[in-house]
Amino acid sequence: MLKDSLLYLAQNPRMKEFVTHNRVARGAARRFVAGEALEDAIAATQTLNQRGMQVALDLLGENVTDAQEAYTATQEYIQALDLIKKTNVNANVSIKLTALGLDIAKDLCNENLCTILDHARELDIFICVDMEGSLYTERTVDTVMHMHERYDMVGTVMQSYLYRSYKDTEQLIAHDIRIRLVKGAYKEPESVAYQEKYDVDKNYLQLMEMLLARGHFPAIASHDEHIINTACKYVRDHGISKSAFEFQMLYGIRRDMQEQLVKQGYNVRVYVPYGSQWYPYLMRRMAERPANLMFFMSNILR
Ligand code: FDA
Repeated sequence: MLKDSLLYLAQNPRMKEFVTHNRVARGAARRFVAGEALEDAIAATQTLNQRGMQVALDLLGENVTDAQEAYTATQEYIQALDLIKKTNVNANVSIKLTALGLDIAKDLCNENLCTILDHARELDIFICVDMEGSLYTERTVDTVMHMHERYDMVGTVMQSYLYRSYKDTEQLIAHDIRIRLVKGAYKEPESVAYQEKYDVDKNYLQLMEMLLARGHFPAIASHDEHIINTACKYVRDHGISKSAFEFQMLYGIRRDMQEQLVKQGYNVRVYVPYGSQWYPYLMRRMAERPANLMFFMSNILR
């Protein structure tokens, strides 16, 4: 109920206006977002790199409605790639197709995506296309499959709450496409997605074993201790090298576990969000865990 309300508020313009203009709320958001500027994200990356972690930079922003905004987002992704190279930090980049204009026109989105992929290939930086709501799943999978024919350094995300992910994962593995496995962060109807945590987790474990056994450097992206322990046991039991995959977690979440995994010799990549459009991201994180909402509210009310 609370989760549904928060996911609903993530799309609510009035709530967004209120929260993003509140100075204290902006400060509290820093627990989960590196900052509003690219330089903030690079500074956070340097700190994480020093702790033995790699980074996926995520410029916040989605669902742009005009071509100029999509162009601006494309240029911002290019700047991120350039600054990664210039500062020599260990990071790759996550992007969202709706930030590149997918809601406006597929051709426009593809054109912007090619601009980014051309540049990323030149700089030898991996690009992960994030998975958004189920309205976009088919188009995201098709776009990544198509782009991967030209750019082998592009991958995408599979969400274990979607029924279709088993089939999609098989297809992406067959094409050697890198996959980040997540549970899924959007509110989805029963017609397309499992509603119960038990089913989402069960499907996650099934997809995870498939990826660890046959995937191309998969990312196990979760903060769920049971899932992480099962992954560690699975690779141990099957003689899979720790260098054949990575764990991924979100900035500011389960930092204790991130450090512990690094100490145990696993690859850990932290997803570092930054930018002015942090409101929907923050609401999704709070929907996942009421304690985050308490943290946020107690800062605002303090
Ligand atoms: P789950 O939500 O079941 O939580 C298990 C445990 O983890 C909790 O009991 C708690 O201890 C801890 N935990 C989880 N979330 C927490 C939080 N917000 N704060 C504090 N503790 C928390 N989704 C998507 O739809 N498309 C995408 O492209 C991505 N990309 C992505 C990248 C990376 C690197 C990560 C880690 C996650 C995503 N996600 C995503 C989000 C993902 O779908 C999911 O919503 C969150 O990871 C939460 O799910 P968990 O697997 O952590 O388990």
